[in-house]
Amino acid sequence: MTLGSNTVQIEDIAFGGAGVGRTNGKAVFIPYTINGETVTVQITERKKNLDRGRLLEILKVSPHRVSPPCPYFTKCGGCDYQHIEYEEQLAIKQRQIVQVLRQIGRLQNLNVLPTVAAPAAYGFRNRITIHSDGNRIGFFERQSRNVLDIETCVIASPTVNEKLRQIRTRSLADGEHRTLREEEETRTFTQTNNAVAKLLLDYVADHAKGAVLLDAYCGSGFFSHRMASRFRRVVGIDWSERAIETARRRADPNETYLLGDVGEIINESLTSHQPDCVILDPSSKGLDDRVATVLNQFAPPSVLYVSCNPSTLARDLGRLRERFRIEAIQPFDMFPQTAEIEAVALLNRK
Ligand SMILES: C[S@@+](CC[C@H](N)C(=O)[O-])C[C@H]1O[C@@H](n2cnc3c(N)ncnc32)[C@H](O)[C@@H]1O
Repeated sequence: MTLGSNTVQIEDIAFGGAGVGRTNGKAVFIPYTINGETVTVQITERKKNLDRGRLLEILKVSPHRVSPPCPYFTKCGGCDYQHIEYEEQLAIKQRQIVQVLRQIGRLQNLNVLPTVAAPAAYGFRNRITIHSDGNRIGFFERQSRNVLDIETCVIASPTVNEKLRQIRTRSLADGEHRTLREEEETRTFTQTNNAVAKLLLDYVADHAKGAVLLDAYCGSGFFSHRMASRFRRVVGIDWSERAIETARRRADPNETYLLGDVGEIINESLTSHQPDCVILDPSSKGLDDRVATVLNQFAPPSVLYVSCNPSTLARDLGRLRERFRIEAIQPFDMFPQTAEIEAVALLNRK
């Protein structure tokens, strides 16, 4: 349905990736636009507090606009920022964290550091999930379950693209999906961008101090196992049996891995192990209430909160500031070209 077209000045790029302007005082969200641009827009959806629009024409072009290298860009649901030069993508992500912390966590004047760049802005993904509708094999179209036929993905690594090429020579049934990984044996959560994961690990390791480390949401021990030699004891918690099995299989004698819900067992772990440092790396849902409550009660000397969702990070930091000082927030560009943001918050007990 067409609801009319307008000329809009783009003021900002919101978390999620759409440019934001105003029509008659009301915010309008327009994907693939950049702050500083003047565009004409077809309004596609009117809501009470905001409208959504589709970019028709760019009247004034941002100096940060570049030509997207991928032929599927704007149709494919994967990437949001291929039209923006890479340095600017990093600045946008830093600004968005500041905004989300203010809007959701009511947190102002925090030390949000410049985003750490990915060593490679393309060809970095070590896994992709592809779907089939019986004819086409590829990714879902933007905001749809229609399968877009994809021959190659510019953000996937060469190894993953070779696997995509091979699977396209076979047929998959309607509704089938496959995750294509650089390392096929991996069946638990793994970080998606090896080079940035290494930078993230180094950062967390540099800031984790003390004798006892608790790694909550540890997966197969990405942080805890690699940091174990620097601690007297390391304890990891995850509810994935497969992840805990993997962590236990390669654990050194000073590593203990507990299978269970962090919300249910963190209290007991904090009491019995008295960690000096707690790493939190939850899913995008963030912490459940019990975890924030127990951390505020127990108040370990330091917490490193690794987040893949600024909204839940903001909510959780809003709760944890009761007992913790938020020293810094360091964004990492784990997912270049996409609107996803990874960040580490450094918290010290007040
Ligand atoms: C973002 S991943 C991080 C894994 C690990 N830190 C890494 O870097 O590989 C989140 C992990 O939290 C686990 N998880 C999510 N909710 C949980 C819960 N309530 N209790 C225990 N583990 C949970 C998932 O199984 C997953 O391994």
